[in-house]
Amino acid sequence: MSAPILSARFDPLSPEQRENPFDVLALARREQPVFYAPELDLWVVTRYDDVLEVLKDHRSLSSTGALKSASAPLPPEVVAVLAEGHPEMPYIIEIDPPLHDRIRGLVTKAFTPRRIGALEPTVHRIVDELLDDLPADGEADIVENFAWPLPLRVLGHLLGLPRDDLAQLHEWGNDWMLVQQDGPLEQRLQHARGTVALQRYFVAAVEQREQEPSDDLIGALVAARPETDPPLTNVEIAGLPLDLMVAGHVTVTRAIGSTLRLLFAYPQLRDHLLDAERAPRAIEEVLRLESPAQGLFRTATRDVVVGGATIPSGARIMAHFASANRDEGVFEEPVSCRPERDELARHVAFGKGIHFCIGAPLARLELAVALPALLTRLPNLRPASAPAVREPLFFARGFATLPVAWGAA
Ligand code: HEM
Repeated sequence: MSAPILSARFDPLSPEQRENPFDVLALARREQPVFYAPELDLWVVTRYDDVLEVLKDHRSLSSTGALKSASAPLPPEVVAVLAEGHPEMPYIIEIDPPLHDRIRGLVTKAFTPRRIGALEPTVHRIVDELLDDLPADGEADIVENFAWPLPLRVLGHLLGLPRDDLAQLHEWGNDWMLVQQDGPLEQRLQHARGTVALQRYFVAAVEQREQEPSDDLIGALVAARPETDPPLTNVEIAGLPLDLMVAGHVTVTRAIGSTLRLLFAYPQLRDHLLDAERAPRAIEEVLRLESPAQGLFRTATRDVVVGGATIPSGARIMAHFASANRDEGVFEEPVSCRPERDELARHVAFGKGIHFCIGAPLARLELAVALPALLTRLPNLRPASAPAVREPLFFARGFATLPVAWGAA
């Protein structure tokens, strides 16, 4: 049986679909809800119920390669560089039980609601620091000046990392995300070197906490290690702060940029965000509409039927969160921004099942502090004339650059 193909071209790397990935996905939900995209060698699952099925069936649909958008094997030169680091380092987002359960068990012991709640004054302080650095009237790239340093500094504080290391970690984190993506060999080697440096950095951070116990999250992970059975190794533990650093950073950066862009289109969103009662629902609605993680990947461990389509063993699958979040069978008038909608809590912007986002409470805290502060401290916030630039990963949605202006027009 031939693979189901969509009548329109699914081309999430094209400038048009980077700007608007939603129309082609709406067409897919109507015509061919599970389809094969030959150019990407990828099966795309677009309906809400089918996406949930994929996320729940972690036995048939492994998280191996959950962040890997390219299907081609890595070039041998890149593999050789990666071999100098810790190729065996597990990343929680890409592993299956039983190792996933052991690592997730450890992180939930250390990354507790109490620890997250205790971060609130720090988040306020960092937001104020960043806004203090901006003039009363002006223009700036809000991604560079606010949306990326905020989550980075919050995570630096959480993990107990020196402020001076953060810019470098940000760069290495990008390398780690991009090492799987196709591109010129020299660029890929650069990403591989950054990945190795990042792995070594976090292994050293874990080793240091072994020698000198600390109150930060890495220290708490090391302290809770004896509760894992068998105890996790230093390299296994080090994958966690690395994952938290990258997963917890870029997603919040994207969410801030996407919210601002949406706000320019829906000015009434401003009132919601400035009202402490209504802001949490407005934030969830933005996450539903924009889905900073548009979708992530799974690998079929056997032939599996999803939404009536037979996906062959070994195939790569994209569980399309953004498409599920606009499924008209679940969300009434899905393209409208309506924070009061009844079905809001059903969105899957943070995933579902065993890999449900560990950082969701922290993300919500950061957005709830940052967005009203931005709107209050930067009055009359509006797009600036310089063009915005979308970010490079096709399974993410946000901005690499978002120039804004504020104050007197
Ligand atoms: C708006 C912000 C965020 C969004 C939209 C988001 C989205 C997601 C999604 C969709 C998943 C599920 C992955 C899958 O099923 O394969 C996930 C997992 C994860 N997220 Fe987030 N995330 C956000 C913020 C954060 C933050 C702030 C942190 C950490 C501080 C974080 C850490 C993680 C980790 C470690 C996982 C993997 C969990 C596991 O595999 O068990 N995320 N996130």
